[in-house]
Amino acid sequence: MKVGQVYLDHAATTPMDVVVHRDMGQYCCLFFGNPATLYALGRRSSEAVEEARHRVAELLGCGDDEIYFTSGGTESDNWAVQGTAFRHMEKGKHVITSSIEHHAVLDAAKFLESIGFEVTYVPVDDTAMIDPDDVKKAIRDDTVLISIMHANNEVGTIEPIAEIGKIAREAGVTFHTDAVQTVGKIPTKVDALGVDLLSLSAHKFYGPKGIGAMYIRKGTRIQRFMHGGRQEHNKRAGTLNVPGIVGLGAAAKLALEHREEDAERLRKLAKKLNDGLLDTIPDIRSNGHPEKHLPGLVHVCVDGVEGEAMLLCLDAEGVCVSSGSACTTGSLDPSHVLLAMGMPAEVAHGSVRFSMGRHTVEEEIDKVLELFPPIVEKLRAMSPTYKKQVRVR
Ligand SMILES: Cc1ncc(COP(=O)(O)O)c(C=O)c1O
Repeated sequence: MKVGQVYLDHAATTPMDVVVHRDMGQYCCLFFGNPATLYALGRRSSEAVEEARHRVAELLGCGDDEIYFTSGGTESDNWAVQGTAFRHMEKGKHVITSSIEHHAVLDAAKFLESIGFEVTYVPVDDTAMIDPDDVKKAIRDDTVLISIMHANNEVGTIEPIAEIGKIAREAGVTFHTDAVQTVGKIPTKVDALGVDLLSLSAHKFYGPKGIGAMYIRKGTRIQRFMHGGRQEHNKRAGTLNVPGIVGLGAAAKLALEHREEDAERLRKLAKKLNDGLLDTIPDIRSNGHPEKHLPGLVHVCVDGVEGEAMLLCLDAEGVCVSSGSACTTGSLDPSHVLLAMGMPAEVAHGSVRFSMGRHTVEEEIDKVLELFPPIVEKLRAMSPTYKKQVRVR
């Protein structure tokens, strides 16, 4: 990171922890054996993979043999949605998800629709909260999967997964949660959540990019997604990404050690930023659920200013934020999450997400609170849409 840079986009990705990097390094050049081979060099890799699997399982409170390594959140989500749908298509072709999922779930659901499945998208309220009753009402005899995210990546709302889990269990429907934004940040024990499938991604909690995992509860029926070798109990083909897996395991261990302390600190910093922005900037609203919220994430909509303009002005000052989810930055479409929350498109266009992490310090929040209000004022002075009376305040 550049000296003086303030990184507030941890929901997009986190810096790899130096301990993670150190642990991975030796499995790149020195212990490079293929874990599927039988000689000592290969066995060394295989042992490292199993140790990492154990660490991830500890974080989720499940058996080691219920963890399957993937290339990240996107693959896990696609596997959960398509693999479950294909495995059960004899029973039915109906899937339930929500209108605020990440595109890795939404587009997999859209793909299923294109080949004859039916999908119900349950709505959210204006805080992006899903009502478990809506999920219950959507269940039909031919429903084969419910996929609801644990926390939303844009506005940070934490969904009532345990309640939905009970509903899914009573109905005998497989339940998947995309926990990419919560693993390593808040408790994610799979039994407490009542899920059959859970997606996670290492780069969201100080691990490497391009590696993730899927939790598959023992007995859950799911079709393999990657065809090829017999790795991962013949469920996910492909030579294992040993350095990545070791990094994921190291990040999982660190998460267990730091998660609670991080969360408490980040909640305080987020409150300071949120309150400071609302106090100093007129015509601004804070989004997401006021209590059931990811620690360290602040999402605001600023009237009369484009999110991208604010992002670029902050970037010029060395502050990294997001004006939507990282995956949609670059597109000028308003966020599907904000639209689903009932926000008018013109308001949704003015959104900025600040997401803090383990290394964020209070001085950085002070810096943003100093920089951001004049940026908004400057942009509003040029805005054709921002109302005049506020402009002269
Ligand atoms: C909620 C959610 N699901 C899935 C993903 C995709 O994960 P990955 O980047 O590991 O493919 C992301 C990444 O932004 C996310 O926030």
